[in-house]
Amino acid sequence: MMAGPVIAGQPLQVDPRRIPDLADPVPLLQRLQDEDHIHWSGEAGAWLITRYDDVRAGFLDRRLGVTRPMPAPERFEEEFREVYRAYRNSLETWMVMSEPPDHTRLRKLANRGLTPTAIEGLRPQVGEIVDGLLAAMPDSGDCDFVNAFAYPLPAAVIALLIGVPTTILRDLHRWSDDIAKGLGAPGEDIIRPPAYATFEMSAYLTDFIAERRANPKDAIIDQLIAARDGDARMSSDELIGNLILFLFAGHETTMNLLSSGLRSLLRHPGQMQDLRDNLDNRSVIAGAVEEILRYDGALFMLMRFAAQDFEWHGRRIAKGDKVFLYCLAANRDRRKFEQPDRFDIRRPDSKQHIAFGYGPHFCLGGPLARLEMEVALPALLRRFPALSLPGENVAWRNNMTLRGQPSMPLRIGVGV
Ligand code: HEM
Repeated sequence: MMAGPVIAGQPLQVDPRRIPDLADPVPLLQRLQDEDHIHWSGEAGAWLITRYDDVRAGFLDRRLGVTRPMPAPERFEEEFREVYRAYRNSLETWMVMSEPPDHTRLRKLANRGLTPTAIEGLRPQVGEIVDGLLAAMPDSGDCDFVNAFAYPLPAAVIALLIGVPTTILRDLHRWSDDIAKGLGAPGEDIIRPPAYATFEMSAYLTDFIAERRANPKDAIIDQLIAARDGDARMSSDELIGNLILFLFAGHETTMNLLSSGLRSLLRHPGQMQDLRDNLDNRSVIAGAVEEILRYDGALFMLMRFAAQDFEWHGRRIAKGDKVFLYCLAANRDRRKFEQPDRFDIRRPDSKQHIAFGYGPHFCLGGPLARLEMEVALPALLRRFPALSLPGENVAWRNNMTLRGQPSMPLRIGVGV
């Protein structure tokens, strides 16, 4: 995260679009917690909120909305306008960007397919996907962990859960990369790539739904189609928009969590050894997953938009201002967690992290992400008794919202 020149006695200036130390952005966010916890970034036109209590309060604050203001179609060249309009309409249906009563209705419908029993029921299939991927990885040498494991696992699982064939996984990777740009990719076109990706996904899903309506099975897609056809409480656009959201949100973050989790473990050999010594102990594994989420979850922040003027800790938030709620910083706030920068898989209160958000938009996929991590980590460590990071110099995704590595070199075996 870019701090302007730091001059003694001068207030800290942080531009969330320029992040020089993507590998370790937390110290700067912690300086904001201490020096300016409701920080105005003129460059980004946004308030940066970094303390745990404030971020949590922000998630509950009805004066902060989730509906994203989008430019008028006339701002774009004519040949792009149809695609852009479709993109804008699609985003309006995504539950993560909608307000009650639409949000409440959509969330309730989607939740039907994500009951604890439904998620737990996926455990054996998740295990099979994990085993297949691990078997295909080399026994020794260097590989790209994201390519070999961290992308294909959550992508295959979300396809299974939703009920789309795995043949879309190659396209899904490209679509998701482009949709991610819409969440704030500094220096890139943040409108056209996500708009075209959404357009292509909508076309694919429209055909697929038609086919599936004729031959229903028993996945989320079938339940949502039935809900849509039964009482029409979900429009066709809402159905397609939220399937896109699920396909995207359902793997992008888990992919980042798998690689950041393995990275955190490899950088803390004592913790890795403790985990390796307890691979049959479900509560130690679950504790490690919570600590991975707390220590370096898959997101920097969630965006909100002020729906009215109001005062917050003496700062005047104006209607329309962007407000960035930094869960990454909140989870490393020493006002909340003791020695927050210590990675400790036995930490008793790690589950109080807010890596899955908080309040009405709290992540619907948390149980699935946890299940994937709990199945993947022990299987991975069993398959490979020795793992290491060949270098610290890895590229990080330049995105204001999503935190992750497009690729992560991994060394398998001893002395390779
Ligand atoms: C490590 C994995 C994951 C992380 C860190 C994560 C994080 C989050 C966060 C922070 C939110 C709140 C957004 C906000 O308040 O604006 C959210 C919402 C959501 N997540 Fe996740 N997520 C993960 C995995 C998943 C998975 C696997 C699924 C799908 C099965 C999923 C589906 C959703 C949906 C549908 C919402 C919107 C909920 C709503 O608006 O009511 N997520 N996620």
